[in-house]
Amino acid sequence: MIEIPIIYMDQEAIKRVVKGSNPMDYVLSRGCSEDLGEQLLRYKKSVEGRRIIEIGSARTGILPHVVQLEVPSYVGVDPFAVNATTSVIEEFLKDNPQYAGMFSAESEDALTFLRSQPTESATVVSSGVLDFSVIGGKIHNDPDVAQYQRELSSEIYRVTPVNGISYHRCADREWQEALVSAGFKADEISDFLFLKESQ
Ligand SMILES: C[S@@+](CC[C@H](N)C(=O)[O-])C[C@H]1O[C@@H](n2cnc3c(N)ncnc32)[C@H](O)[C@@H]1O
Repeated sequence: MIEIPIIYMDQEAIKRVVKGSNPMDYVLSRGCSEDLGEQLLRYKKSVEGRRIIEIGSARTGILPHVVQLEVPSYVGVDPFAVNATTSVIEEFLKDNPQYAGMFSAESEDALTFLRSQPTESATVVSSGVLDFSVIGGKIHNDPDVAQYQRELSSEIYRVTPVNGISYHRCADREWQEALVSAGFKADEISDFLFLKESQ
């Protein structure tokens, strides 16, 4: 039985981490975001039936992949670049109006948003976000950043359904370790794929 750490970081501490984060250019590379979409299709069986939450969505490239899956909805969450996500959604719906109501975007920090989500309710993914050059990048040695990393990993684990996956394109080594400490099994082949197995 894996012990989930007690969540105790308050909103002020979270705000400090977010303030020290680096939104970068909003787009790591189109290729990374598209890889994320392709992986969702690859792991279709583990993903279908649940919502998709993309953290740090910015100018996401995964909407064309999401509509190929049997999922009820997609929400992009980004505290700095939600307008970019909203624009991508609007553009996509112009050509694909049949998907109206399926997509939304929230201007929110990932940890704050996930805390409000039901347990085992969604597949949580990201591309170019779980990296110390993005989250808490400007205050790398701040213990708040390490705590944020632990708590965000725990929240991702809690929200992920049993037998589900979480995929974080370009997650760095520290984030990979934090996700495993939160309870995920690291995939043997992909560094970016994390499995939530039954206990
Ligand atoms: C390098 S960009 C990647 C954008 C996009 N996912 C892609 O692959 O092109 C990093 C994104 O993470 C977002 N971000 C930074 N801190 C965040 C946080 N605390 N919660 C959610 N997103 C965050 C930034 O606003 C930015 O859009």
